[in-house]
Amino acid sequence: MCGIVGYIGNKQAQPILLGCLEKLEYRGYDSCGVAIAGKDIEVYKDAIRVKMLGEVSPKLNGTTGIGHTRWATHGVPSQINAHPHLDCSGNIAVVHNGVINNCQELKARLIREGHTFTSETDTEVIPHLIEKYYHGNLEEATAAALDDIDGSYAIIVLAKDRAELVVARKDSPLILGLGDRENYIASDVPAILDHTDRVVYLEDGDLAVITRNEIKIKQNGSDVRRDEQKVSWNVEEAQKAGYEHFMLKEIHEQPKVIRNTLAEYTRATEHPVDLLGARDTGTDSMLLLACGTSYHAAMIGKYIIRELLKIPPRIEIASEFNYYSDVLSRAVAIAITQSGETADTLKAMKKLKEAGCRVLAVTNVVGSTASRIANETIYTRAGPEMSVAATKSFTAQLMALYWLGITQSRIDARKLASLLTELRQLPGKVQQILDDEAIIAKQARNLSRFENVFFIGRGINYPVALEGALKLKEISYIHAEGYASGELKHGPFALLGESSPVIAIVSKDNTHDAMLTNIKEVKARRSPVIALAEEGDEAIEEVADAVISLPRVESLFSPVVNTVALQLLAYYTAKERGCPIDFPRNLAKSVTVE
Ligand code: F6R
Repeated sequence: MCGIVGYIGNKQAQPILLGCLEKLEYRGYDSCGVAIAGKDIEVYKDAIRVKMLGEVSPKLNGTTGIGHTRWATHGVPSQINAHPHLDCSGNIAVVHNGVINNCQELKARLIREGHTFTSETDTEVIPHLIEKYYHGNLEEATAAALDDIDGSYAIIVLAKDRAELVVARKDSPLILGLGDRENYIASDVPAILDHTDRVVYLEDGDLAVITRNEIKIKQNGSDVRRDEQKVSWNVEEAQKAGYEHFMLKEIHEQPKVIRNTLAEYTRATEHPVDLLGARDTGTDSMLLLACGTSYHAAMIGKYIIRELLKIPPRIEIASEFNYYSDVLSRAVAIAITQSGETADTLKAMKKLKEAGCRVLAVTNVVGSTASRIANETIYTRAGPEMSVAATKSFTAQLMALYWLGITQSRIDARKLASLLTELRQLPGKVQQILDDEAIIAKQARNLSRFENVFFIGRGINYPVALEGALKLKEISYIHAEGYASGELKHGPFALLGESSPVIAIVSKDNTHDAMLTNIKEVKARRSPVIALAEEGDEAIEEVADAVISLPRVESLFSPVVNTVALQLLAYYTAKERGCPIDFPRNLAKSVTVE
C-alpha cells in the first residue's frame, strides 16, 4: 500500500506531484507529503488528504521532487510519520512503499552510530542508511543501503544539489513514465496518465537513476534494458466522468467490461492454459487462490470448473495457503488478483512456481508483479479501477473464469452453444439492472437504518452472499456477514430478529426450494427479508418482505446479475449513511503487505 511519485523535468514539480498523488489515494490516504529540491530540500507533509495538502502548503519552488500518500503500517497517521523522511542533515529525502522487516535492528545500529530519528516509521532508516554510505555518489549509496535492508520496497530518493532521482523496487510496484525532457515515477499507471502513456515497468531488484533526459537501470550492478510500453488505458477511464463516485461509475461500466473482455477472449486464438491437462492428472491437480473479493471470484470459479470441466479444484485464501506445505504438487494453479500486487497472493504464486507448478495469473494490470511471476497470464479488461471497493474487476474475473471453463469444457455441443449465447446476452441483462437502480436505491434507504445484516445464498450464489456482505461492510460500515443458507441455523439464528435483516440471494436452480424454506425460517424469527430473485418468482414474492427482481439468466451466470445488484445495494446504503464511498476508512486498494 502507500503510493509514491517522483518528477524530474523542467516544470514546477509541486503541482505535478500533488496531481499524481491524488490519483494514488486509493492506495492509502491517511497522510501525505512532498519534498522538492530547490536551494535546499523543502518538505511539506501532514495527516490530511492530498487535496487539502495542496490548499494549505506553501509554494515550494523546484523542478525535481518526490511525493507520498500513506497507508500506515509502522506508527499512527501523523505529520511526523508522514513521508517523505529525511536523513540527519536534511540533504536526502526518501518516499517508500513497503515494509522494512529489520528496521528495529538497523535503527538501533544507526542510533549507536550517532543518527537521530524523529518518526515511528520503518522507512526512516532508509535516508539514514543512504546518508551513512553517501560519499558523492547517490546511486552507490542507495545500493549499499538496500543491501542492509530485509523487506519489501519501492523507493524514490531525492538528494540536494543532484539533478537526479534514484529509484529501486523489490516486491512493491514501481513504474517510470517517460516524457519529453522530463520523467515521472509512480507506484501505478493511473498516477501519470495525465502526462504520458509511455511507461517502463521496473522489475524486482532494479535500481535506476533518473534524470530529466535519461533513465539508467541496473540489476545486481549491471546495466539492463527494460522495454518501453504504451499504456492502453486512457485518462477518461481514470476519471469520474460525471458520476458522484468512482464506484458508481465502475458499477455502470460493467456491461462494457463484459463486452470488451469477451471480445478480447473471442479474438484470441490460443488457450492461455491447458486446464484439461489438470483434469487428466486427477482431482488433486488444480488450485485456485486469491484474497478478498478476488477470493470470492475464485470460489465461484470452483463451481464453474466443477460444472464445465468436471474437476473439483481446490481453492485457498492466499494468506492461509502460505502456511501449508502439503499442496505443492498441483499441476495448475490459478491466482486471481485485480491489482497483481497483493503480497499474500504473490508469495503463494512464488511458492507454487518454485515447487514446479504451472501458475496462471488472472489480473487486470498489465506488467503487474503477478503477471511477471506467472507462467501465463489472462488479462481482464476492466480498465483502471479507482474505487477501493472492487466491482467491475470482479465481474471481469468471472468472465475470465467462464471463458476458461467454456472453451475447455467437454459438455455437449448444444449445451455449450446455449451457454455462449447466454454469456453474450449478459451485458444487456446487467444494463437492465442498472436502468432500474432506483428500485435498489429504495431498498438501500431502508437497509441503511440497520447495524447488522446477514446475506445468505446457496450453491454458486453462496460466494455471492460473501461478496455482498463484504461490499456492504467495507463501504457502509454496517456489520454484515455472508452465510451459506444452510449454515444460518447452526449459530447465527441466535442473532435473528427485527433488527437483523437478511438479504437472500435466490436462483431458479436446484437450490430454489431450500432457499424458500430458509427464508420462511428467517421470517419466523422476525428478521426482515429482502430477496434477490428472478423476475416472476411468485413463490419468493409471497414470503419475502421485499423483492429485487432480476432478469432471468442461466444459473451458472446468476452470480453476475446478483453481484451487480448487491454492489448497487451497498453503494446506495453507504451513500444514504454519508460514507466516503471511494475511500473507506482503514482500507487501501492494493494490499502489498502480508
Ligand atoms: C474488496 C477488495 C479487496 C480485494 C483484495 C485483493 O472490495 O477490493 O478485498 O479484492 O484486496 O486484491 P487483488 O484482487 O488486487 O489481489
